[in-house]
Amino acid sequence: MNRADLKAMAQREQDRQKSFRCRLLCCASTPCLSSGATAVQQALEEAVAAHKVDAEVAIVSTGCMGPCSRGPMVTVQMQGQDDVHYENVTPDIARRIVEEHAIGNQPVNEKIMPSDLPFFAKQTKVVLTNSGVIDPERLEDYVAREGYSALAYVLREMKPDEVCAEISKSGLRGRGGAGYPAGLKWDLVRKAPGEKKYVIANGDEGDPGAYMDRTLMESDPHRVLEGVAIAGYAVGADQGYVYVRGEYPVAAKRLEKAIRAAERRGLLGSRVLDSSFSFRIDIRIGAGAFVCGEETALMQSVMGRRGQPVPRPPFPAQSGLWGYPTLINNVETFGSIVPIIENGAEWYAGGGTEKSRGTKIFALAGKVNTTGLIEVPMGITLREIVYDIGGGIPGDRQFKAAQTGGPSGGCIPAEHLDTPMDYEHLKALGSIMGSGGLIVMDDASCMPDVAKFFMDFCADESCGKCVPCRVGTVQMLRILQRITNGSATPEDLDTLQELCIMVRETSLCGLGQSAPNPILSTLRYFREEYEEHVNQHKCSAGVCQFTEVPVMELIEELPRRIQASKAASGPVETALKRPPDKAQRSSPAPKIKASKG
Ligand SMILES: Cc1cc2nc3c(=O)[nH]c(=O)nc-3n(C[C@H](O)[C@H](O)[C@H](O)COP(=O)(O)O)c2cc1C
Ligand code: SF4
Repeated sequence: MNRADLKAMAQREQDRQKSFRCRLLCCASTPCLSSGATAVQQALEEAVAAHKVDAEVAIVSTGCMGPCSRGPMVTVQMQGQDDVHYENVTPDIARRIVEEHAIGNQPVNEKIMPSDLPFFAKQTKVVLTNSGVIDPERLEDYVAREGYSALAYVLREMKPDEVCAEISKSGLRGRGGAGYPAGLKWDLVRKAPGEKKYVIANGDEGDPGAYMDRTLMESDPHRVLEGVAIAGYAVGADQGYVYVRGEYPVAAKRLEKAIRAAERRGLLGSRVLDSSFSFRIDIRIGAGAFVCGEETALMQSVMGRRGQPVPRPPFPAQSGLWGYPTLINNVETFGSIVPIIENGAEWYAGGGTEKSRGTKIFALAGKVNTTGLIEVPMGITLREIVYDIGGGIPGDRQFKAAQTGGPSGGCIPAEHLDTPMDYEHLKALGSIMGSGGLIVMDDASCMPDVAKFFMDFCADESCGKCVPCRVGTVQMLRILQRITNGSATPEDLDTLQELCIMVRETSLCGLGQSAPNPILSTLRYFREEYEEHVNQHKCSAGVCQFTEVPVMELIEELPRRIQASKAASGPVETALKRPPDKAQRSSPAPKIKASKG
């Protein structure tokens, strides 16, 4: 296939799509699939077949439309009319959508998502332009929306160093967490000596609450592949890998299908688009270890070795896969390449803030009315995300904090709701942008408990290679367990803080180095909650159950409890537990604290 063939294919597909009077877009990404989208699509198909309108009504199985908590989602596109979005669609509603809306031109009002929902109003789709609009399993759908023309343009019009310069000029920073300038990294790999070079798209995405990369791979796999191929051309590689975690079977399947379709049409493989550039892409499936998202561990995994980090330098750009220069970028970073080439670096750099250009995808989760996947300009405030896009906190509760960056990040409290979301501001607040997980917490959340959740995750995911992380995370977890069960001493708080610094400064890789972040940031903003737990054995949020009884209180109460236990013929051990009423949020402070006993 050459450039002319590509254009012809785009035209044919556009004509085909226009031939339908109505198109029913049915979201088939993981969140909607898990809430019943398969049955909804089947009902749509059966109704279209039953009414024999398949020549005029098309059903398109798409990727994510965004407001995941409102799924299954269906969008009706009628020629000459605005799109209508349906939420929480059931098979019954699906049949009615076909009969009443697609055929009868009367929308099914009770399930229409309000068109003025602020969820969409403040978003800017740059990377997710095709998500929820095209069928990710049809190459033609992608090509009809100018897919692969950026690659064709680059191969014909640009030299590799010009591509790197264009990416540098756009100001794009890596979306995997650290925000390293993408163009600079590309140029380092391009200039690195090596008879062979590799490109890797990092789609491991192990942080709890994050699903940006999964969605992009599921919803628009060709967009990722095209970005990887452009990078391959720019750095001089002939082999790329997309590393997908094992828990993402839908993404892996769609990527695999996309690779095969692109190869069949000469868009990947040898002599891409009739040029002298040859590039293969293969998928590598990870086994689901968080540390395998770290670039050196990931490369070990790709090479079939145990996925553990190795010290840097050398950096992957000099010595990566099998000792060859390797470019590794996040999936969303690669997803940003096509719009930069299509619209130019200046256009891209015009969005966002001075040091954080463009847009960022966030997985908005937790205590907000509408959770889902959003793409916003860098610099938007947290308040706009939570209250405008997310629709505020459910049940009239108060916003307490938002965790960005998952287990490597930190929390942003209510007093910083007007902070612009960019790399610099989040760092100044003691958090990080991370890859885009954004978990909103309301006033029913207990911050020591939140820190415990993330430390539990890190201790579990520590690969054990270096002592500070292997031992330090477990010790920090134990202290947090004591804090949240009422048996911690004030000295524990000092030890916890010391351990945080030690683990951060001495761990081998980013997992250990950043594991203390959730503790440090909750201590910074919510220290009084830690002190309340330690000194008063009280959890104002009502989350922690203080099952361990402070020693002096136990000594005072023990005779009475043993007596009561015998009277109830219960085991003596039950006497050692705090009675349920005392474990509740209103539990009074004990008269004598354990630490002073
Ligand atoms: C524990 C750990 C997990 C990581 N997980 C991911 C991940 O899932 N996806 C990702 O792109 N980067 C992850 N990173 C960052 C990568 O090491 C690397 O910096 C990134 O893939 C580079 O791409 P970028 O420059 O486009 O951000 C992780 C880092 C650490 C320390
Ligand atoms: S910091 Fe933790 S995850 Fe990283 S190498 Fe050390 S033990 Fe492994």
